[in-house]
Amino acid sequence: GLPDQVTIYEVGPRDGLQNESAIVDVKVKAEFIRRLVDAGLWTVETTSFVHPKWVPQLADATELLEQLDLPDDVRAPVLVPNERGLDRALAAGVREIAIFASATETFAAKNLNSTVDEQFAMFTPTVERALAAGLTVRGYVSMCYGDPWEGDVPIEQVVTVGARLVDLGCHELSLGDTIGVATPGHVTALISAFAKAGVGTDKLAVHFHDTYGQALANTLTALREGVTTVDSSAGGLGGCPYAESATGNLATEDLLWQLNGLGISTGVDLPKLVETSVWMAEQLGKPSPSRVVQALAS
Ligand code: HMG
Ligand code: MG
Repeated sequence: GLPDQVTIYEVGPRDGLQNESAIVDVKVKAEFIRRLVDAGLWTVETTSFVHPKWVPQLADATELLEQLDLPDDVRAPVLVPNERGLDRALAAGVREIAIFASATETFAAKNLNSTVDEQFAMFTPTVERALAAGLTVRGYVSMCYGDPWEGDVPIEQVVTVGARLVDLGCHELSLGDTIGVATPGHVTALISAFAKAGVGTDKLAVHFHDTYGQALANTLTALREGVTTVDSSAGGLGGCPYAESATGNLATEDLLWQLNGLGISTGVDLPKLVETSVWMAEQLGKPSPSRVVQALAS
């Protein structure tokens, strides 16, 4: 069966913009987020409190949050890798954070300057303090389906990292296909392995990049397995600057076209969203890669 309702976890302002080398003005970012919320996206990952030298595009995180005045019922999580990032997020009044783990050694080194084990030394005190401060913590696992340096990633390795994040107190795990290599059979196998480890679909979200055009097929597979939270990026912006060959996320418009067709409700207004992505593409000076944006943009 399929769910009646799906939560779209919008990552455009964070995962989308982090990969843009030309710095986008903070006012444009704030307007982008306001427009996304206005289109009905009520969970928007706004930015990252990472080292500004590692992701210069998001160095303005504090300033951006100062400029945003979102309604109370909008969830606006931010990425936080460590205690320093948590301090900055708390000072900015954040109520929800996401930590991001790697399933592989190479990506842990490249993205977090740590090993798979060391990343937990960083996350443990961060999550403990965040929970004590009343925040909600999401956990990402990257390279769930393949790694550009290591190739295949054993499912048990992914489940071990994910289960450790849940044990730390993450309310939700987002399974990242960082480089977009997943195919539907692999998605089913991974979700089943998590279920066997005691992590059910009520705790799982899926996060597909669309490098190989598989993101929608993978998403539909995950929905059939019982997942009801899907990450996507308006206009298909995105990629990870520390992952070779990572292109845009599944476009929110492409996801919405599918969900609308299936009669699954999301609360998102597709024409408003397309208008927003067209506007953002103009700001970035390049067309949106989303097929639905291309089809509907007038
Ligand atoms: P490091 O250089 O090892 O940090 O980086 P450190 O702990 O050794 O600290 C060095 C200096 O940085 C210190 O300053 C710290 O205070 C400062 P100093 O004492 O030398 O003056 N520092 C910070 N400053 C501001 N904010 C901070 C912070 N932390 C330390 N948070 C670190 C380690 C984790 C910080 C670094 O590797 C980093 O920032 N990495 C983030 C990379 C990133 O953002 N990648 C993209 C997001 S992940 C992704 O896209 C995948 C995802 O979409 C899912 C998927 O698709 O799979 C989520
Ligand atoms: Mg990503």
